[in-house]
Amino acid sequence: VSERGEDTDLSVFESVWTNARIATAKDGDTDLVSIIENGAVAINNGRIVWIGRTKDLPIHKVDSGTVIHDCMGSLVTPGLVDCHTHLVFGGNRSREFELRLQGETYEQIARSGGGIASTMDSTRNTSSAELEHQACRRVLGLMHEGVTTLEIKSGYGMDVDQELRLLEVINKISKVMPVRIVRTLLGLHALPSEFSGHRDQFVKVICEELLPTAISRDLVDLVDAFCESIAFTSEECSRFFQKAESFGIPVRVHADQFSDGGGAELAAEHSAISADHLEYTSEDGVIAMARSGTAAVLLPGSFYYLKEKQIPPIDSFRKYGVPLVLATDANPGSSPVFSILSAINMGCVLFGMTPEEAFVGVTRNAAAALGLQSEIGTLEVGKIADMAVWELEHPRELAYWVGVNPCREVIVGGDRIHLSVTDRWTLDGQKG
Ligand code: NIG
Ligand code: FE
Repeated sequence: VSERGEDTDLSVFESVWTNARIATAKDGDTDLVSIIENGAVAINNGRIVWIGRTKDLPIHKVDSGTVIHDCMGSLVTPGLVDCHTHLVFGGNRSREFELRLQGETYEQIARSGGGIASTMDSTRNTSSAELEHQACRRVLGLMHEGVTTLEIKSGYGMDVDQELRLLEVINKISKVMPVRIVRTLLGLHALPSEFSGHRDQFVKVICEELLPTAISRDLVDLVDAFCESIAFTSEECSRFFQKAESFGIPVRVHADQFSDGGGAELAAEHSAISADHLEYTSEDGVIAMARSGTAAVLLPGSFYYLKEKQIPPIDSFRKYGVPLVLATDANPGSSPVFSILSAINMGCVLFGMTPEEAFVGVTRNAAAALGLQSEIGTLEVGKIADMAVWELEHPRELAYWVGVNPCREVIVGGDRIHLSVTDRWTLDGQKG
């Protein structure tokens, strides 16, 4: 099938979305974003089979069985990709939020037994059914803002049985929710108190027991580790990544969030598909990431909530051609942000990304950060038909408005998802 529809396939289009302003998120010659005015997208078997100007639509492929959706001039974009979330957890940390507002730091709270460890306790004490229920509501909230793919990390279980339980929860969500979910084992997140003084043993248990068991149960797409002075060293993360590599599982890293701990270099050494946070990454770290083709996932939600001062080295990433990505980092501690549109806005206002960089950062580049660039992230022939329809004129507006939700339709694999507009948290109907 060629780009403009000169295909030899005689089958009729199953569905067509017409009269759209299509922001493809493809790599244009001059612009980051190419827009097709008065565009149309045709879909068969969940994939895009034709895209172009509505007037050029091969009309012989449209018959009475073709479902036509008139977008009436609305903006159509690739479905958004939130590539970094920790949205399966129990309880919340609003009390710590209050303490931080009074001047306590994230690190002080973490070192005195709060932080990630407190979410570990509440997560362990929450039933799987309740974790699923709460997580599904969060997923729906993201879908309402046009998210069609999201990554979910485990990480608040912190022992073999509990982490396996969280991965099962994530797996269940991926089966019941009409959205694409990438399942990440965040094996090294924080040291649980039962292992204090026995770091080596903990890393060993994660590498030798948790990882192989989780993989044998087919619960892991990616692995991640938190490389930081309050979490795990480069060497410890490296042991975990080597083990993951031996199973062929791609690696991501929480890197250089509060200090330059060589996280970007570590990511590059392991050919990580992404390094995330990166506020303190050095120029050498950026160069290493450019060489290894590692994407830079920026998480302005945690920067904002923790009132950080140092922004990631955006100009260096641009200079060396490291793809910029934005995500929510949705979690109960550092980033209680369950809104991709807010993350887009913060990426521009706080980090100085351009609205077009932000748009590409939640579509094409975010897909790459999950290793899915050949399937999703742009609107072009052959890709999966994951799309969002917006009451907007230009993708720059995704960064501009806060507190209004311009998303009108969410399409996953060619299926229109019925999300109730009146009740944010109700999945009103099924695929189709
Ligand atoms: O990405 N950095 C480590 N993990 C999360 C924070 C999790 C938490 O505070 O509960 C993050 O910021
Ligand atoms: Fe995170």
